[in-house]
Formats: sequence, structure tokens, C-alpha cells
Amino acid sequence: MDFTRIIEQKDKLQTPLFYYDLEILKATLDAASKEATKYGYHVHYALKANANHKILEIIKNAGFGADCVSGNEVLRAVEVGFKKEDIVFAGVGKTDKEINDALDADIFCFNIESIEELNVINELAVTKGKTARIALRINPNVNANTHHYITTGLDENKFGINLWELEHLLTVLGKCENIELTGIHFHIGSQINDLSAFKSLCLRVNTIQEWFINHNLIIPHINVGGGLGVDYYKPDENLIPDFETFFAIFKEHLDLRPHQQLHFELGRSLVAQCGTLFTRVLYVKKGIKSNFMIVDAGMTELIRPALYQSYHKVENITPHEGTEKYDVVGPICESSDSFGKAVTMPTTKRGDLIAIRTTAAYGEVMASQYNLRDKAAVLYSDEL
Ligand code: LLP
Repeated sequence: MDFTRIIEQKDKLQTPLFYYDLEILKATLDAASKEATKYGYHVHYALKANANHKILEIIKNAGFGADCVSGNEVLRAVEVGFKKEDIVFAGVGKTDKEINDALDADIFCFNIESIEELNVINELAVTKGKTARIALRINPNVNANTHHYITTGLDENKFGINLWELEHLLTVLGKCENIELTGIHFHIGSQINDLSAFKSLCLRVNTIQEWFINHNLIIPHINVGGGLGVDYYKPDENLIPDFETFFAIFKEHLDLRPHQQLHFELGRSLVAQCGTLFTRVLYVKKGIKSNFMIVDAGMTELIRPALYQSYHKVENITPHEGTEKYDVVGPICESSDSFGKAVTMPTTKRGDLIAIRTTAAYGEVMASQYNLRDKAAVLYSDEL
């Protein structure tokens, strides 16, 4: 990533700072769109990864739909101008208000996660005299081989309807007059780099699809969720994820019936690499075995390392001679407030600007005000 303009202005920049490179965002969207369009696939962007207006606007203009997991995300998607027929709404715990808001917005589809939720959506739709289009989120019991906190498609996870409940669900569905079943939905997890997990998902979906056909049901759309991982270790070598291989797996292994549409919900892979969290060095504490580089960003801006032990590349972009090893830590009163242990970096001084890479997905959106911290500043590349 080219930080020339940032380096030129480094002394003026307010930190911590979420910086978004819009050219990288657009190039990533172009690549994803090109590969998905080859097969007529529909991609909904998962707002949970980053819901900034400017970023959403660009994603909407690139032709993507929206995948929402709260009423406020649905309202945000509508406000930004995503077409209502491109908005899906998932989540295990939708409140009545959220369901009503989505019914009013006339969205494409509710991804429903339990039989009880199905009944509630039906009742609320009856009250409004509307029909709710739904997809059944089915738990496929496929292992995504990713961190257990971001694994969602196993029997033990809270998400989706288990396969053994489907028979009963169809009976309930038969009694829900204001519900139209339009899809089946799956999502096995996030930050998936072992792409064979997606092949396993396809094979499982094929079997589940057979089950529906045996029950005389052809489902108009299949939604296989998101989850494609990004390269946190070598961001510059792999700025754009391998969408070509990703979509080709579905083309090769998923048996679509005539006129059946395939939908995706990609979050991280569309945005992660366009963001960098810039932080300034407050103090360097020399130690015997290790040095502490204390920076002004913490787990309040980027919680991923503390929550998932995840790696983000940390770089000192202020040129200096020599190298040393540092534990890069934030100012928050928690020992888990750390961005890296024994990281080799140019010899660092107070005031240096540090880049924490690959932070546009699940960075700013997961920020908190713990310790009564201020919100971090935001800067887009077209404002430099
Ligand atoms: N669809 C559903 C139903 C999901 O639950 C998720 C993510 C996505 C789509 C988008 O997945 P993606 O393409 O971004 O992997 N905070 C965690 C990630 C949580 C993901 C939750 N669900 C992290 O920072 O790694």
C-alpha cells in the first residue's frame, strides 16, 4: 500500500486514525463483481464488517446488495440507497421492532433462524397485511477450520435451524399464511482460508437440496453466506482476495436447478485490506528482554487481537536506522491490549507513526468507548 501522502502529512494527522484507501476498495469490488457476474451470482455486502456511509455508498454504486444483522443495519442500507429487493436480514435474535421495520422496508428476504422466529414473523406480517419472504437458515454442520469464535455452521453453534428440525418446520410453515419460502441460507464461518471448506459446504447443500426436492419443494434461491478470508500476514502481496477461485468452487460443486439463483454475503473479503489503523507512539519503554512500544490506539479501536488472538501486520512508517524488537501495546488497562509480541521494527521513537494493517473489516465497527475513550478519527484517501 502506498503511504506517501500519509507520510508527507504525518505530523498533522490526528491519531488513532482509521484510514481508508478508496482506490483499493474499488479495485477489490471490481474484482469480486467481475468473477461473480461470470456466473450470474448475487453478492450482498455484509454491513457488519464496516458500515461507514462513504464505504457503503461505493459498495452500493458498484452494484452489490446488502446483508444486515440488525434493524439499524437494515435502516442504514435503505438510507444509503441499497435497493430493497437486494437487502437480506439475518440474525438469531430479531426483535419485533426490527422485524416490523424490515417488513415496512419490504426487503428481499428474512433469513430465519428458528421455528419460533418463523411464527413471530408470520404474526407480525398478518398484522400488517403483508407477506414476508423468508429463507431458512440451515445449520449444515460443516467445519470451517477457522477460529472457534468465528465458526458458525456446527451443530454446537447457536445459529440456524438444525437438519433434524426441518420436517417439523415444514408443518409449521404450512400454517403460516403470510410467509413465502423463497430460499435456503447457510453460513459456516468467517476468515476461511482453507477453501476446501466451501467445497464441503456445496456438497452438503446438494444433499439438503435433494431433501427439499423429495418434499416437492424447489427453492428459488440458495444463499451460501460469506466467510472468504484475507491475508493478514502479507497484505501487500495479496491486497485483493482470490475471488476467481472462490466463485469457481461454487460453480463446480454446487448443483443449481434451472432458474435457481445463488447468493453470497461477503463482508471481510470486500473491505478488509483497504483500511489501515494509524497510531502514534506515545512512549518506548526499554526493557532487558523486550521493549514496549506504547501506542495511542488500543483494543478500543481494534479488538480483534484481544478477542480472537488474531494477527495484524504492524509497521513503523517513519524511516529510521537499525531494528529492534518490540511488544506493541495500547494504553487500555488490560493485559490483552496488545497488537503484537516481539515484532522486529525500525528503532522507534516517541511520535513515530505506526500502521496497523488490514483493519477496514471488523475494526471501527467493533470499537468501544471503554475507559471513556474518544472515538478515533476517520480519513478517506480522497480527502488527503
Ligand atoms: N453472513 C452471515 C450470516 C454472517 O454471520 C457473517 C459474519 C457474514 C455473512 C460475513 O462474513 P465475512 O465474509 O465477513 O467473513 N468479528 C469477527 C468476524 C465475525 C463474523 C460474523 N459473521 C472478526 O473480526 O473476525
